[in-house]
Amino acid sequence: MSSNENAVTRLDLRSRLLVSTAGELRRRVDEARIRPGAVIGLVPTMGFFHEGHLSLMRAARAECSYVIVSAFVNPIQFGATEDFNTYPRDLDRDLAVAAGEGVDLMFAPPEHEVYQPGFDTMVVPGKISEGLCGASRPGHFRGVATIVAKLFNIVKPDTAYFGQKDAQQVAVIRRMATDLNFDVAIRVCPTVREPGGLAMSSRNTYLSDEEREQAAVLFRALSAAKEAAASGETSVSRIRRKMKKMIGGEYLVDLEYVKIVNPVDLEPVEEVATEALVAVAARVGRTRLIDNMMLTPGGPDAADA
Ligand code: PAJ
Repeated sequence: MSSNENAVTRLDLRSRLLVSTAGELRRRVDEARIRPGAVIGLVPTMGFFHEGHLSLMRAARAECSYVIVSAFVNPIQFGATEDFNTYPRDLDRDLAVAAGEGVDLMFAPPEHEVYQPGFDTMVVPGKISEGLCGASRPGHFRGVATIVAKLFNIVKPDTAYFGQKDAQQVAVIRRMATDLNFDVAIRVCPTVREPGGLAMSSRNTYLSDEEREQAAVLFRALSAAKEAAASGETSVSRIRRKMKKMIGGEYLVDLEYVKIVNPVDLEPVEEVATEALVAVAARVGRTRLIDNMMLTPGGPDAADA
């Protein structure tokens, strides 16, 4: 394609798909909502799409008559020393990708549209936001809950789609939706991984080849934990010790936490007696990565239960 044709495609996509104000978004969704059998699906993202985002769009496309994807790098969920300024962004590529997935509308507002002068109200999640990533990212989940609540209020989706990759985010949003009576079904889609097992993330673009290779140890350690639990290991301390040892073998991976918790309220568990969530966070170079898996107890005892 010539650069002229490229520019025309870009403009065409922008005019067909892109909405940048809350008022216009509300108007377009309200129009779609009154069609017979309308089911409105929302996929909140911060853009720079990868296969993880696409899996959410595909789930929404399969289940909804009208699919909205938001792409907004939300400043209030980043800490002062975090990567807000360098977070990867590519609106035109995202629009083309979303169009390819049959998305009906992409909401990519400027910051001043979302946080207008005088903005002074936050949604503050409680205890569920304090452990795991909340411990090292104070204010992060308040920022997430606030933007997601705003999106829910503007779009009023029937179903909203989130990735299991961000397990604490899912737990916080479920809690918020229940506590604040949002009339929306929360659908959680499985974690999409690179061939070596590394969970896909927009932040993976920061990794060097060697870092990327070593980062896959998080997946291997989680898989080992899953396997141990499935074959009858119930001791959280033994599982954690084994994971720490594996992760410690990769010199570029600096472990922040390995925790085994109840998947709903995120409270630590001492034994893997029922389904539990094992979650990890680590720094690999300057990149902070997270991942998790569900542990299902197995072995001879579980068969009797
Ligand atoms: P972002 O990191 O862009 O992720 C958008 C959605 O994609 C989230 O629900 C996330 O869990 C999901 N996702 C990311 N990587 C995934 C993977 N490898 N497999 C499956 N799903 C994956 O999460 C956010 O944005 C923001 O916090 C947001 C909810 C949009 C609020 O600003």
